[in-house]
Amino acid sequence: MKVISIVGARPNFVKLAAVADLFDEFFDHVVIHTGQHYDYELSRVFFRDLSIREPDYYLGVGSGTHGYQVGEMVKKTEEALLREKPDIVVVYGDTNSTIAGSVAAVKAGFSVAHVEAGLRSFDMGMQEEINRRVTDHVSKYLFAPTDTSVMNLLREHVPGEIYLTGDVHVDVLEKWGRIAAEKSRITEKLGIRDNEYFVATIHRAENTDDRTRLKAIIKILGEASRIKPVIFPIHPRTRKAVKNHGLEELLSKYGDLRVIDPLGYLDFIRLLMGSSMVLTDSGGVQREAYLLGKRVIVFRDRTEWVELVKYGWVKLVDVDINEVIKLLKTGWKPVRNPYLLGDGRAGERILRVLKRSFQ
Ligand code: UD1
Ligand code: UDP
Repeated sequence: MKVISIVGARPNFVKLAAVADLFDEFFDHVVIHTGQHYDYELSRVFFRDLSIREPDYYLGVGSGTHGYQVGEMVKKTEEALLREKPDIVVVYGDTNSTIAGSVAAVKAGFSVAHVEAGLRSFDMGMQEEINRRVTDHVSKYLFAPTDTSVMNLLREHVPGEIYLTGDVHVDVLEKWGRIAAEKSRITEKLGIRDNEYFVATIHRAENTDDRTRLKAIIKILGEASRIKPVIFPIHPRTRKAVKNHGLEELLSKYGDLRVIDPLGYLDFIRLLMGSSMVLTDSGGVQREAYLLGKRVIVFRDRTEWVELVKYGWVKLVDVDINEVIKLLKTGWKPVRNPYLLGDGRAGERILRVLKRSFQ
């Protein structure tokens, strides 16, 4: 019973952490790292923080245009799959490593299981939406995190089997959140006190590639920092975009907008725990903030996590500065509901379905 996990980017590693130990225990489990993310802070630190063992294959694909990156990954993944001959290939989330892994697998005749199936933004201009849709339509097992994602899959008549599992990020946060609270010294290191700062992350192509939007977001973060310091662990994509768009001066103009290197999982979660609000365009960070009881301002006009909007945890602000400042100053009251994203047992459910498929 050989299972191959294919990962390559930061959010893939976090999701893998929910099942890696279970798969290692019950299957002959092989991990392929495509090399999409390669900097220490975007890759190795997650294996260290989340105690994920070393990958068996490191394909070293690196950065490039979408076609180049996906093409190289498909080619190199196929070689590994043909050598290993797995029973099932598991892919995670919606990155280029996800689509490449699923396409390489089905083309070579292997079954695919998709963790985090059925999410939709209904915006085919987003690379992640293309990645999700293609992966869902070639997968045999679809592990959907929410009722909404199950409905999306039913509406599209995907040929695979759909299972409602809950969100694997809940499993990971339940396991590692306590350890983050105990071990991380990030607030001391940054000299900040709980509830007296905001956390920001920005990296989506829609926000970084467009100069006008990136400039508007930096201005919003700058104005927010006049209310409370903003801690901004910056993704390398965003750092490069700031430079290419000539926005470095603007970014460094605000004394309390503190740009730092990307953090490992434990430090980042501890930072979220102490924050008074979160400003982001990340899918994973929206959910983790909600799970930690933090309100989230999202620099997008839509989200795949519609439950979080419905219950008032996420406010979609696009890049409306007046709206953000109003929200930061006056706050708002979300509806408490601890189970919007499942019960933290998504990994077990995934394991159960895969084990059954081998009987
Ligand atoms: C990818 C995912 C996105 C996810 C994000 C998580 C796709 C299409 N996008 O976006 O869904 O939210 O990861 O972080 O898969 N770079 C480095 N060091 C690295 C990796 C990248 O400097 O280790 C820089 C390179 O300049 C690269 C750029 O970041 O060109 C973008 O990297 P890429 O992997 O293409 O996409 P992300 O923006 O990271
Ligand atoms: N994350 C982290 N350090 C950071 C920023 C994010 O550990 O400096 C983690 C975060 O906790 C989440 C994951 O990275 O689990 C989400 O990845 P990202 O925001 O890059 O991608 P997305 O979820 O938007 O695809």
